[in-house]
Amino acid sequence: MTPSVRTVDFLVIGGGVAGLRAAIELASKGSVLVLTKDKQTESSTEYAQGGVAVALSDEDEVGIHYEDTIKAGDGLCRESAVKILVEEGPGLILELISWGAEFDREGSKLSFTREAAHSRKRILHSRGDATGKEIERVLIHKARTSPSISRYDFAFTLDLIMDDDRCIGATVLRGDSVINIFAKAVVLATGGAGQVYSRTTNPMIATGDGIAIAYRAGALITDMEFIQFHPTTLYSPAAPPFLLSEAMRGEGAVLKNLSGERFMPQYHDMAELAPRDAVSRAIVSEIVKTDSKHVYLDLTHLDGDFIKKRFPVIYATCLQYDIDITEEPVPVSPAAHYIMGGVCTNIEGETSIKGLFAAGEVACTGVHGANRLASNSLLEGLVFGARAGGKAARYIEGEKTDIAGISAGTEDAAGALPPASTFDVEKTRSTMRQFMWNKVGIIRCEESLSLAKKWLDRKQFIMEMPSRNRREFELKNMLTVAHLISESALFRKGSVGAHFRTDFRAKGERWQKHTACQKGRALKWID
Ligand code: FAD
Ligand code: SIN
Repeated sequence: MTPSVRTVDFLVIGGGVAGLRAAIELASKGSVLVLTKDKQTESSTEYAQGGVAVALSDEDEVGIHYEDTIKAGDGLCRESAVKILVEEGPGLILELISWGAEFDREGSKLSFTREAAHSRKRILHSRGDATGKEIERVLIHKARTSPSISRYDFAFTLDLIMDDDRCIGATVLRGDSVINIFAKAVVLATGGAGQVYSRTTNPMIATGDGIAIAYRAGALITDMEFIQFHPTTLYSPAAPPFLLSEAMRGEGAVLKNLSGERFMPQYHDMAELAPRDAVSRAIVSEIVKTDSKHVYLDLTHLDGDFIKKRFPVIYATCLQYDIDITEEPVPVSPAAHYIMGGVCTNIEGETSIKGLFAAGEVACTGVHGANRLASNSLLEGLVFGARAGGKAARYIEGEKTDIAGISAGTEDAAGALPPASTFDVEKTRSTMRQFMWNKVGIIRCEESLSLAKKWLDRKQFIMEMPSRNRREFELKNMLTVAHLISESALFRKGSVGAHFRTDFRAKGERWQKHTACQKGRALKWID
């Protein structure tokens, strides 16, 4: 099969908050093509519930948001990135409101709620617990109004196209066709990797493709051991681990064990609103102590009508599984939720590869350090999506980015798709996800991590085998990401933020450094 060719000025891979905001920033600078691997709205952004953190309330200040973010990051945040996040965030939220975003209000004033580790009420929300949907709606609408932005949905990016050390596009699988898309600059905004774990809040698209793609092209990948596990997801044999927003605890919901007793220690007077890693570990410890599979999230002391109005999506979803959250405690257990590590970028979204920019969950600006503060991710997507777009635009003005000659000569670059794989793709995927949950999960140690690494090493042969469809390409990406997480977790002999090792409970000697992986090189520490 001969791949077809398309040429644009800017290729944006991903249509969540980060990709769309980058595309909007680029729209006045040239032609922009946005790729999504599924339908346009299918993204973590679409499912975001609790809200977006921003210092806009009368009781809040940018400096306090900064302090809370730094504290949650447990000493590993890049301060320059945090400063930008909290300072540029308010302007970008007001801009979003001017584009039509409707956040919940009390009278005419914006309504703010509280989430874990925030010292102020600073979380804006929309239609109760449908904040991400509203942000995605407004950004899609804004992008549609720009004639220079076009899109390919169900376009699965396979790999980046490189010209020596410069990224000049991507190879994409669309249906049965392979397309080489050439661009003067590429923005990677493919979101997270929660699907490498068997219990995750993330949608099916979150298979870490962007991290694996960038790694294969030689990009620097940092902080991969830092996975955030959300404490409260629905635990029911019939249901996926559906997220029960932290905002519920912000509104007064409490955690109880099977005997109906509260068990959260008073962590700096925060109890249920302690940082996510602390709450997740307390839940695991309670589950082990009581030899059970879950604990309970109890809201029954709150007004039923308030709960239905404040959390309509959660109320309706739990009811589908015969749980009325206004009348009975909900069985909950933690699940993988967010990856703090990813493709290393500076504060302008530049990666270590010329012509390749990254923003959103796929990127690691260091803004979240070792643990992300709740509701800082949507804000990150807006702030660093806009920045990556702005820098990509300046890059093509300043650099020699001619791709016309190259694209004309590479029509045969990607060959025909090969015949079917000879190993069981679905079984491997499922076993890997269980391994990651059991051995590289909330609580880790040398023994568990080594077992995971050994299993992953044995699956390396899969990397050499040809792939035919999205599922098979995804599996390779997931195995790559699982490897990077496990190796980084083994490398960091200490417990920091969301990375907790029972064999090294203290932070360890080089804890203020970041782990860095690059293809063909040994894992190392960087500042
Ligand atoms: P996404 O929104 O995930 O978008 C990724 C895009 O990349 C998609 O369009 C996808 O199709 C595309 N893509 C991926 N791989 C490929 C490929 N190979 N080829 C082509 N396209 C590809 N954060 C908050 O701040 N507040 C919250 O309340 C909140 N709640 C959350 C609730 C849930 C259930 C989840 C899962 C996350 C939540 N988060 C929240 C985290 C936050 O939603 C995400 O971190 C953020 O939306 C990520 O945005 P993104 O643009 O980086 O990626
Ligand atoms: C939630 O609503 O609990 C998720 C918020 C987040 O991930 O930031």
